[in-house]
Amino acid sequence: MEYRHFGNTGFRPSALGFGCMRLPQLPGEEGGIDEPEATRMIRYAIDQGLNYIDTAWSYHGGQSEVVLGRVLQDGYREKVALATKMPSWLIEKSEDFEHYFSIQLERLQTDHIDFYLLHTLNQGHWDNYLKFNLFDWAEKQLADGRIRHLGFSFHDELPVFETILKGYDHWDFCQIQYNYMDTDYQAGERGLKMAAERGLGVVVMEPLKGGRLAIEKPPAPVKAVFDRAETPRKPAEWALQWLWNQPEVGLVLSGMSTFEQVELNLASASRSGVGSLSAEEVTIIEDARDAWEGLAPVACTHCEYCLPCPNDVLIPKIFEIYNNSVMYDIQERGRRSYQNQISEGSRADACIECGTCEDLCPQHLTIIDYLKDAHAYLSER
Ligand SMILES: NC(=O)c1ccc[n+]([C@@H]2O[C@H](COP(=O)([O-])OP(=O)(O)OC[C@H]3O[C@@H](n4cnc5c(N)ncnc54)[C@H](OP(=O)(O)O)[C@@H]3O)[C@@H](O)[C@H]2O)c1
Repeated sequence: MEYRHFGNTGFRPSALGFGCMRLPQLPGEEGGIDEPEATRMIRYAIDQGLNYIDTAWSYHGGQSEVVLGRVLQDGYREKVALATKMPSWLIEKSEDFEHYFSIQLERLQTDHIDFYLLHTLNQGHWDNYLKFNLFDWAEKQLADGRIRHLGFSFHDELPVFETILKGYDHWDFCQIQYNYMDTDYQAGERGLKMAAERGLGVVVMEPLKGGRLAIEKPPAPVKAVFDRAETPRKPAEWALQWLWNQPEVGLVLSGMSTFEQVELNLASASRSGVGSLSAEEVTIIEDARDAWEGLAPVACTHCEYCLPCPNDVLIPKIFEIYNNSVMYDIQERGRRSYQNQISEGSRADACIECGTCEDLCPQHLTIIDYLKDAHAYLSER
């Protein structure tokens, strides 16, 4: 196993961390975690030197923390740094901090959390934490040793990330979504560098874009790029090595759902290191990104010059959902996002074809036609 630097914390994390959001499931409607298999996978990873495990209040409907508490018995708790997260969306008063945290200690059968995160920070959650004086409570836990390091996971735009980074002087670490397709999404590459410059350890989540970059048979244009490489690698390994190549990345969390994925990703981690990819290999990954992007039906750059639409159509968001659905061949998921993330009056069929957006678009996109295509694709049954 390779171990890495983690900001100013002094902790040396294994290159690969175990994300417990996608543990193996039992078959059938009831689902539920396949605990014997999850135990085998997590303990095997720890035996191979993995030393960072990430869970949260909400994963697997609360069962991830409970099962992990049992998995880490028999001496395994002492071998790992344990990370879990405050359920930000449930906080309604200051007393809630202690309420949820003490239940988490019970679920995880431990007296301290090594890396405690404020879960999924966005502007609203951040404002709420400040309103209820989170740091008064958190600093007491840090002083008492119940929390060893304080950080946050993030899902909002880059300016909000910067506000949060600068909003507290003693963050130890943060967790961001980052992969070779999401360099300019949410915190992105700029956020990664900003955090590293301030001495935070950075945990990467969704390194395989939730599995989309790991499919065995990628689309032909992407495969053609990977096939150029002298050293053949599976798509998942390309994505992981690209992250480990960067000095600002502390550790990479993968939510592995099978034993085989654990073996593959551990083997991949053991081959990793900052600067271990050649310039040609980095170019191959950049070309693979271009090849994926070439599959997108709309060349929208999200500049948002087209907004505000006089009829409130959320043009860039619609194109983002449409592009992702086509690129990664996930039409059903795209349909759900279209229904859930965009209110009825702001969907593509609210377009009145006034053309204001087309006059403003620097890419000269035929937005009116593309909106019709997007609506047809995302509404198709
Ligand atoms: N704090 C937050 O807001 C937040 C949000 C998201 C994630 N997280 C944390 O970050 C962790 C990592 O994110 P993630 O789970 O999205 O990671 P990810 O690595 O991007 O996606 C995991 C999925 O990729 C596939 N996969 C993994 N290794 C593979 C391999 N070698 N070959 C083929 N497929 C492979 C599996 O998909 P299949 O199951 O389909 O096979 C797996 O479920 C999560 O588990 C969670 O702990 C936190």
